Amino acid sequence: MAKHSQATWGGRFSAGPAELMLRFSESVSFDARLARFDIEGSKAHSAMLAHVGLISAEERDAIHAGLDRILGEIDAGKFVWNPQFEDVHMNIEQALTKRVPAAAKLHTARSRNDQVATDMRLWFKHVAADLVERVRGAQRALLDVAVRDGGVLIPGYTHLQRAQPVVLSHHLFAWMEMLDRDAARFQAVIEQANWCPLGSGAIAGTTLPIDREFTAVQLGFVDARGRPQVTQNSMDTVADRDLFIAFAAACATAGVHFSRMAEDLILWSSFEFKFIDLPDAFCTGSSLMPQKKNPDSCELLRGKSARLQGNLHTLLTLTKGLPLTYNRDLQEDKPPVFDSYDQTAICLDVLAGTLAGMAINRERCAEAVADPALLATDLADYLVMRGVPFREAHHAVGAVVKLAESAKVKLDQLGTAEVQAVHPQFGPDWLEVFDLKRAMEMRRGTGMPGPKQVKRQLARWQRILKP
Ligand code: ARG
Repeated sequence: MAKHSQATWGGRFSAGPAELMLRFSESVSFDARLARFDIEGSKAHSAMLAHVGLISAEERDAIHAGLDRILGEIDAGKFVWNPQFEDVHMNIEQALTKRVPAAAKLHTARSRNDQVATDMRLWFKHVAADLVERVRGAQRALLDVAVRDGGVLIPGYTHLQRAQPVVLSHHLFAWMEMLDRDAARFQAVIEQANWCPLGSGAIAGTTLPIDREFTAVQLGFVDARGRPQVTQNSMDTVADRDLFIAFAAACATAGVHFSRMAEDLILWSSFEFKFIDLPDAFCTGSSLMPQKKNPDSCELLRGKSARLQGNLHTLLTLTKGLPLTYNRDLQEDKPPVFDSYDQTAICLDVLAGTLAGMAINRERCAEAVADPALLATDLADYLVMRGVPFREAHHAVGAVVKLAESAKVKLDQLGTAEVQAVHPQFGPDWLEVFDLKRAMEMRRGTGMPGPKQVKRQLARWQRILKP
C-alpha cells in the first residue's frame, strides 16, 4: 500500500493501511451525508483564519470557491467519494487540495475531532428543526380529525376495559400533548447543539492566535441576542456525545408515542372495536386470506419504535467507559443518530398520512358508548352530591351494578325502588345521571372532556398550529 494514500496523516507512516483495515475503518459510506455541514464549517474556519491573518484574503477566497464547487458536484451526484480517504472530511480536503494550493492551509488550528463535533452540531440543529416541523404536520392531521369528527363519543379505556365516556377529541388531544412534548424535546436539542466546538483542536486547542468567537458567529452558534456561544472545555468538546444521546432519546420517546398511538389505532380498526377504518393507502392485504385488510402502517410505527430505542441504547453503550477524550469508537456514533432521524421523520409523515385518511364509524362508536355502566362513577358522584361519603357511594353503586348484572338488565333499567333498597339516597331523579350529554357537560374543569373544555383545547391547538 503506497504511503501517499493518506496525505493528511501519512507523514509518520512508512506504509498505508491494509486493504482490510481501510474497509473496516472507513466512514465515508455513511458520513458523506454531512458534506454540506463540513463545507459550511470549513468556510467559516478559513474565514476566521483570514480574519486573524493566518491566511490571506486571496487564499480564503480560493478555498471558498473550491469548496463551493465541490458542494455543487456533490449535490449533482458527480463527486467521487473514495473510501481510501476514510471519511467525509478527508475526501473533501483531498479534492480541494488537488484544485486549490491554499487548501494545504485549511486544516491550520483544526483537528478532525473538533471538525466532526462541529459538523454534527450543525447537523443536529438542522434535523431537529426539521423534526419539529414534521411533528407539527402530524399534529395538524390530528387537529383536522378533531375538527371533522371530534364530537363523536367513544369509551375511554383503563386496563383496556371500557371505563368512562369521552369525546374523540379528548383522546386525540391526549396524543397531541404527547407529540407536543416531542417537539419540545427536539427544540431542546437545538438549544443544546448551539455551541461551537471549533478551536478545541484534537484535545487541547492550539498555540495559534485564532478567534473562536468569530467562527461561532459565522456558523450561527449564537444566543438570542446574537452573542457567540463557544464550548468551554476543549477536552469535553471532543469527547462529549451527550447531544447524540439527547437526540436519540428524543427520537426513542417519540417512537414510544408513535407506538402507543398506533396500538390504539390497531385496536380501534379491529373487527372487535370497529371504531375506525384505516385508509387503504396505508394498509395491505393478506396473500392468503382475501378478506384481510391489515393495519401495516400502524404495526410498523409500533415496530420502528423498537429500533429507535435500540439506537439510543447503542449510544449509551458506546460512550460508557470510554476514557477521555476522543477514541475511534466514537466514529460509530453516527449510524444510530442518522437512522433515528430518518426513521423518526418517516414515522411522523406516515402517522400524519394514516390519521388524515382514517374514517370514523359513528354508529359503532355510539353503540360502544351507550352502555350506562360507563356512567357508574357519575352515579357515585350523584350520591356524593347528596351527602354520601364517596367510599360508601362507591360501594352502593357497586351493589347496584351487581343487581343489574344478576337481573340481566342494563344499569338504567333497574327500578327506582330497587336502587333505593340498596341506598336510600337514590332519589327519583337518579336516572338523569345516564343522560350522556348532561354527563359530559358536567365535566367542567381544565383538562376534562366536557364540551366547554374541549372547545377551549381545540382553540388552543388551532392557535399553536396556525401555519
Ligand atoms: N471519521 C472520524 C469520526 O467520525 C473523524 C474523527 C477522526 N479523528 C481521529 N482522531 N481519527 O469520528
